[in-house]
Amino acid sequence: MYTKQFLQASLLASVASALVSKDGVTGKLPALGWNSWNAFRCDINEEKFLTAGQKLIDLGLAKAGYNYVNIDDCWSIKSGRDNTTQRILPDLTKFPDGIDGTAKKIHDMGLKIGIYSDAGKTTCAGYPGSLYYEDIDAATWAEWGIDYLKYDNCDVPSEYWTGDEYHACHPDYNHPTGPNATCVNDPGLAPAGYDWSKSRTAERYTRMTTALLKQDRNILYSICNWGQAAIETYGANIGHSWRMTDDIFPVWSEVIHIINYNSFKLNYVDFWAHNDADMLEVGNGDLTPEETRSHFALWAAMKSPLLIGTSLDSISSDNLAILKNKYLLAFNQDDVNGAPAMPYKWGINPDWTYNDTHPAEFYSGASKAGTLVLMLNTLETEAEKAAVWSEIPQLSNGKCFQVTNVWTGEDLGCVSESYKAKVARHDTAVLLVSKSSSCDCK
Ligand SMILES: *[C@@H]1O[C@H](CO)[C@@H](O)[C@H](O)[C@H]1NC(C)=O
Ligand SMILES: *[C@@H]1O[C@H](CO)[C@@H](O)[C@H](O)[C@H]1NC(C)=O
Ligand SMILES: *[C@@H]1O[C@H](CO)[C@@H](O)[C@H](O)[C@H]1NC(C)=O
Repeated sequence: MYTKQFLQASLLASVASALVSKDGVTGKLPALGWNSWNAFRCDINEEKFLTAGQKLIDLGLAKAGYNYVNIDDCWSIKSGRDNTTQRILPDLTKFPDGIDGTAKKIHDMGLKIGIYSDAGKTTCAGYPGSLYYEDIDAATWAEWGIDYLKYDNCDVPSEYWTGDEYHACHPDYNHPTGPNATCVNDPGLAPAGYDWSKSRTAERYTRMTTALLKQDRNILYSICNWGQAAIETYGANIGHSWRMTDDIFPVWSEVIHIINYNSFKLNYVDFWAHNDADMLEVGNGDLTPEETRSHFALWAAMKSPLLIGTSLDSISSDNLAILKNKYLLAFNQDDVNGAPAMPYKWGINPDWTYNDTHPAEFYSGASKAGTLVLMLNTLETEAEKAAVWSEIPQLSNGKCFQVTNVWTGEDLGCVSESYKAKVARHDTAVLLVSKSSSCDCK
């Protein structure tokens, strides 16, 4: 269990200064878009990206803000770089016109394009990585018209482990049942006050920051080091978003684990600084409709990047409606309030309990439209949950508020003191709570 003292100490440890893009826009808000990995793994080609782009437009997702079409692993020639130019070579059987050709077609649709590489010798699927080739690769991507880089963490050479001995305590080993259960209560095993921005991991990722900044192009830098080396404490200095955990899988145990882990790290999130809870599994795997809603609602409320990870050819209308929820997207993309929704009460367990099946259930956050309130039901049965205004930081000095059901858009009227909802197993009730002159009972 994390203690409150630990949490507060870690919040004081480092106040990052943001990596502001030259255009003043790229990376300020969480990225919205589509990525190939969760749907297709290595089975990719240009056609799939053009289809995804066209579907983003046809399904109204682009209009809702989803504007990145991101290529994940497996786009290049596996055997190695060009021996003369040292460039990574696109696989022309998958991308006949090169990545620059695909980029042009995606740009012509009015969308942006992302690429993938790795801060190691090879990518996770064994394709050339970018460590030691940062300047060449950043320049190549800029020339191709790339707008976004996801930068993974596989195949790190041994020289980069030296001096980074604290790296071994990986956040996912905080799974109480996981292989490194001893890391529970011991976030990192580093000495108290260790400055992770001086770690070898930080150095590997900063090499690419430097290379990207040399380019005359705004490229969103999405760090993907799986939450290692306390990336959230200095990520904003060197990138725009950073993955918090290992890869997501479309099962509830993974979704709820990520919610639990991230719920302790939300103070690091603001404009230009986003904890990446990983790409969406809406439409994939074994998630029930209720679990899918909770997944999307918490990701949006925690201000994670929202990258659709399903094949858009076959998406159901229910899942499409979840992805297009205008209240959650407006909260995620609020240009006045950078902070995410945060837990104000745990519910099942005492406050500040680290628990992968029953994490914090009650969250709230400020937005232009009002206060977003989320009530997650982590139980295996339906439960009644109450949003009590006096318990919610943004609402505690009011008595009556106008309430909207975020899932249906239904106006629930002027509600005094608290709003009770029956919440199905693993579902989340989401409310937009606002002041209104016609709803005033002081
Ligand atoms: C580069 O040279 C090596 C060694 O001669 C060769 O095996 C490899 O195929 C070459 N790579 C490319 C992309 O031509
Ligand atoms: C933790 O996991 C890592 C990676 O699997 C392993 O190398 C290490 O020995 C483990 N530590 C403990 C204490 O089990
Ligand atoms: C998580 O919380 C539940 C509910 O309080 C409890 O039954 C369970 O034992 C906890 N899990 C762990 C690993 O502590």
